[in-house]
Amino acid sequence: MSIDLGTTYMGLDLKHPIVASPSPLSATVDGIMRLEDAGAAAVVMLSLFEEQVQHQTDTMERIMGSGEDGFAESLSHFPEHDDYQLAPDSYLETLHLASERTGIPVIASINGVTNRGWIDIAKMMQQAGASGIELNVYYIPAQIALSGRAVEDLYLDVIKAVKGAVSIPVALKMSPYFSSVGNMAQQFDAAGADALVLFNRFYRPDFDLEHFQVIPNVNLSTAAEIRLPLLWLSLLYGHIKASMAASHGVHSATEVVKCLLAGADVAMTTSALLQHGVEHLTTLVDGLQQWMQQKGYNSVRQMRGIMSQRLASDPSAFERANYIKMLETYKSNPVAT
Ligand SMILES: Cc1cc2nc3c(=O)[nH]c(=O)nc-3n(C[C@H](O)[C@H](O)[C@H](O)COP(=O)(O)O)c2cc1C
Repeated sequence: MSIDLGTTYMGLDLKHPIVASPSPLSATVDGIMRLEDAGAAAVVMLSLFEEQVQHQTDTMERIMGSGEDGFAESLSHFPEHDDYQLAPDSYLETLHLASERTGIPVIASINGVTNRGWIDIAKMMQQAGASGIELNVYYIPAQIALSGRAVEDLYLDVIKAVKGAVSIPVALKMSPYFSSVGNMAQQFDAAGADALVLFNRFYRPDFDLEHFQVIPNVNLSTAAEIRLPLLWLSLLYGHIKASMAASHGVHSATEVVKCLLAGADVAMTTSALLQHGVEHLTTLVDGLQQWMQQKGYNSVRQMRGIMSQRLASDPSAFERANYIKMLETYKSNPVAT
């Protein structure tokens, strides 16, 4: 039986649904080419940060002096320009060369929280050959007076500004912490997002009790974390036009299959590649193919969304019933996970 692994993600035709998400592995031309050689269907580059762009613009002093909000302060905490690997010019150069030298889509990534002058960089990414742009609005609303509505508007303003600046597809890496995740997904969809990446993984700092310092170390994900994307993929499938990417917790072919059954168009992975090496991509693709063979599926499109809740008449009641069932199971078998 011949198996069609093809999928469409943010309007891009991909040979299979496994994509490398932004990480140091996708920071250089060589790195991106290695990911292609190892079998990635597309690569999202390491993010260019709004703060890096601001460092390079003449408007920096004006922004620093305006005292409008906490952004100026975030600039002052940002690593010095020389310390940082990908300044805007070298980012665009890397993007340009990687797009020329690879046969897979290379998606640029911007990490920003305002809709200021850095939006122009999106146009330059398009000119440099990006197949699409992924927006990572990494925003922790630490000013507790800020309302939920204001935070939501911040996301919407950024997506609208970037969509207005480019004609290539734009994806938004979403936060899972909105009070109504589904409604926000709908609003991003209506604002023109071509894809939603579920979800951004916010890094939680730890405390060093010896030196009274905050430890900003990166902790890699585990496969168990796939459950949050699974929940929202299955609830959103069939309700939004935008493509959906599962991100965080994709460690083996099992998670890839689960994401697709829930309704994802692609599964993105970083931690597993950092742990096992980029060759792990082949294990994921082979594992997906084997599972499809065993279960008699001959295309990814055929299996996509079959375990979603598209046809559930009351998804909230369904989720609540599952929750109650889970608690019951725990009472009768407390060690089960
Ligand atoms: C070392 C490291 C660097 C990362 N850099 C970025 C980045 O620049 N932009 C971004 O959107 N995500 C970045 N991420 C997040 C990953 O793209 C991914 O969303 C996250 O690790 C969850 O996926 P995973 O469970 O497959 O690791 C980074 C992750 C790690 C571990």
